[in-house]
Amino acid sequence: MYYDPDVKGDHGLPHDPFKALVSPRPIGWISTLGADGVVNLAPYSFFNAVSYFPCYVMFSSSGLKDDPMKHSWRNAQETGEFVCNIVSTELADAMNLTAKHVPKDVNELEMAGLTAEPSEKVKPPRVKEAPAHLECEYWKTIDLPTNNPKFKHGVVFGHVVGIHINDDIIVDGQVDVTRYNPLARLGYMDYTSVEKTFSMKRPDDLALGRKVLGDKPYKTKTST
Ligand SMILES: Cc1cc2nc3c(=O)[nH]c(=O)nc-3n(C[C@H](O)[C@H](O)[C@H](O)COP(=O)(O)O)c2cc1C
Repeated sequence: MYYDPDVKGDHGLPHDPFKALVSPRPIGWISTLGADGVVNLAPYSFFNAVSYFPCYVMFSSSGLKDDPMKHSWRNAQETGEFVCNIVSTELADAMNLTAKHVPKDVNELEMAGLTAEPSEKVKPPRVKEAPAHLECEYWKTIDLPTNNPKFKHGVVFGHVVGIHINDDIIVDGQVDVTRYNPLARLGYMDYTSVEKTFSMKRPDDLALGRKVLGDKPYKTKTST
């Protein structure tokens, strides 16, 4: 099949397939502080790392009819700071709870029964239960062009200025994702949990006989 995504319903399917194709997507669980100091926490799967050294991340907020700027975007832009909490599969239900649209004065971290832990360099707290955290300084927002002025789409970029990793997930000097099983978003209401990994050397490294990560035997790793 082929369809034009700018033409509503052109795919002819009961549900829009776009998000199912660009998957799995990591989930940035964004904690921020409102200008009034209230803690905000919400999941964003239009989220990713976009560079390292320096490390930059982004999350993209699609506005609501009644509020074109979601709280995470507004707070990050107003206060200049946010934290990306990494979501393990065991936190799926808590993460989902924090997607609820609630008034700005509701502390979603508390609402989901989670524990706030102070950050090192930024004011928004971290979710203690998360296996890793990226403390970010807001850099800029890129507004995406839209045909409908009621819906604003903003891609928020942040410079990662501090990273916390739970020591339990570091094995032989490497982060072992099978220790926490990152949760990722598929299409529709579907998710996946990363439970297996494998390694591959890059062609240039193979050609030059370079010793690099990935020298371990080509095998499937499963949860321990
Ligand atoms: C797994 C998951 C991923 C989501 N990803 C996004 C996203 O990338 N962009 C977005 O605008 N909303 C996304 N949402 C919806 C927001 O989390 C939801 O609108 C939330 O209430 C926003 O909260 P805030 O206004 O406190 O930022 C997602 C929801 C879930 C459950």
